[in-house]
Amino acid sequence: MDSAGTLSVLNSPSEMKKVSDACRKAGRKLGFVPTMGALHQGHISLVEESVRRADVTVASVFVNPTQFGPGEDFDRYERDYKGDVEKLVRCGVNYLFYPDISDIYPDGFQTTVSVGTLGDCLCGPFRPGHFDGVATVVLKLFNIVRPDFAVFGRKDYQQLRIIQKMVRDLDMDIEIVEMPIVREPDGLAMSSRNAYLGEEQRIRATAVNKALHEVRGKFKSGCDDCKILLAEANRVLRMAQINDINYIEIRDPETLELRHRAMEGDLVALAVRVGETRLIDNIVL
Ligand code: PAF
Repeated sequence: MDSAGTLSVLNSPSEMKKVSDACRKAGRKLGFVPTMGALHQGHISLVEESVRRADVTVASVFVNPTQFGPGEDFDRYERDYKGDVEKLVRCGVNYLFYPDISDIYPDGFQTTVSVGTLGDCLCGPFRPGHFDGVATVVLKLFNIVRPDFAVFGRKDYQQLRIIQKMVRDLDMDIEIVEMPIVREPDGLAMSSRNAYLGEEQRIRATAVNKALHEVRGKFKSGCDDCKILLAEANRVLRMAQINDINYIEIRDPETLELRHRAMEGDLVALAVRVGETRLIDNIVL
């Protein structure tokens, strides 16, 4: 165990389990924020929420290889251990769980979670195996940390719904706390992948959130025809020369079923590529 300020860094699952057991025995409420590091303001908002609600907060940093497909950015995904530790200390996090790949996936590892139909839409078809990889690692992290609650952001909306469903389906006694998307002043949703954008791409990327607002504006002015609403969003994206659109869809916010007629509270979600960088964003009507 390595102590950085008031933050203790734990590398092995057994050390982490000991700390978590001790918290439980002492009747202390344990909050958990799983991350892949390269922490930005979006992560910080999750961590701060946990610190507000819990007696003890654990954050994890683990770039999970099983949620990256072949040719995706696992190797170049930003790693910033020192920066992450500094930010977590500043937020008042008590423990950083920082395992190696072999701690999470020891030799012979073979049991995985299969997430079912919630993983078949939106990002699912574009990232085969991604949500099974996410659910598997989150289940493992939950079993190691055994928190009372865990905090997730709505930026990864489909991930959030999948984790909530997994917790219900598998009778896990963990509350899932959801937090709003944190945005740059020009509306771009915060993401570790924004760092990949060149200057000109960064400017064009603002169209992503504008497109979602366009849908909301048109819906508020009385149009509920999803085809018309989405055509508007497509127009905004294409004007910014964002032509590589994985999807832009309106769906039920809980079941993620596709809508033809939009309703108040529906999810509008999109994934696009700006250059090589894949960006996702969403808004609720
Ligand atoms: O949202 C993320 O950063 C990751 O998908 C998560 C939940 C930490 C699992 O690796």
